[in-house]
Amino acid sequence: MNIYIHPNEESLASAAAAMIAGIVMEKPDAVLGLATGSTPAPVYRELARMAHRGIVSFAQVRTYNLDEYVGLNPDHPQSYRRYMNEQLFDHIDIDPANTHVPSGFADAGMAAAYDEEIQAAGGIDLQLLGIGRNGHIGFNEPAGDFSRLTHIVDLTDSTRQANARFFDRLEDVPRQAVSMGIGTIMQARRILLIATGEDKASAVRDMLNGAITPRMPASVLSLHRHVTVMLDNDAARLLNH
Ligand code: GLP
Repeated sequence: MNIYIHPNEESLASAAAAMIAGIVMEKPDAVLGLATGSTPAPVYRELARMAHRGIVSFAQVRTYNLDEYVGLNPDHPQSYRRYMNEQLFDHIDIDPANTHVPSGFADAGMAAAYDEEIQAAGGIDLQLLGIGRNGHIGFNEPAGDFSRLTHIVDLTDSTRQANARFFDRLEDVPRQAVSMGIGTIMQARRILLIATGEDKASAVRDMLNGAITPRMPASVLSLHRHVTVMLDNDAARLLNH
């Protein structure tokens, strides 16, 4: 695992975007696993800038997002499909047909089919991840076991409260999500996890300095061969250097 600590969010975003663009330059039809939340937004802005300047083209890239809220239509203001269109896809030369976000109306069978689609596309070359304050990746909440494939998840109260800032009221935050499983994420050839801000510091510490346990889902990444972690100073504050 390579861990980089950046002085601020801008420098982290440039480094993360450079890594993603580098993979696309090397393999123009790369399969990217993408994440939502506030952390990746500056990375997507930087990728859009690079695409505008002609530094990188996404014309042949395929993307698979980690997760979606159950019950939200793709055009709902808080759906992750809408987030991806607004933050990235509308600003780059990607073919919309090559972008995939799990359906918020998926049943268990449709969720499992998402993994098959990813495999049929050749598997994920780079999976981008954020981290929840409780250590979740995708929407894989602390649990008794590491989940395997894409599945429907019950969101914890703490995750619903953390994400309530995007909704008008806490009651509007969905109670479930469809999420790639830990197994799906671990099958990616490379993983890039990004975390910024002090509210991620304890999750980052437990992920990197604690035991590997499904109670801290991100801790599983220690078992993957090609993981890069990019942090800002605030998120790295509690690490044993
Ligand atoms: C959501 C997403 C995660 C994301 C997390 C942190 O729960 N499902 O993929 O990593 O939020 O989001 P943020 O970057 O806004 O802190």
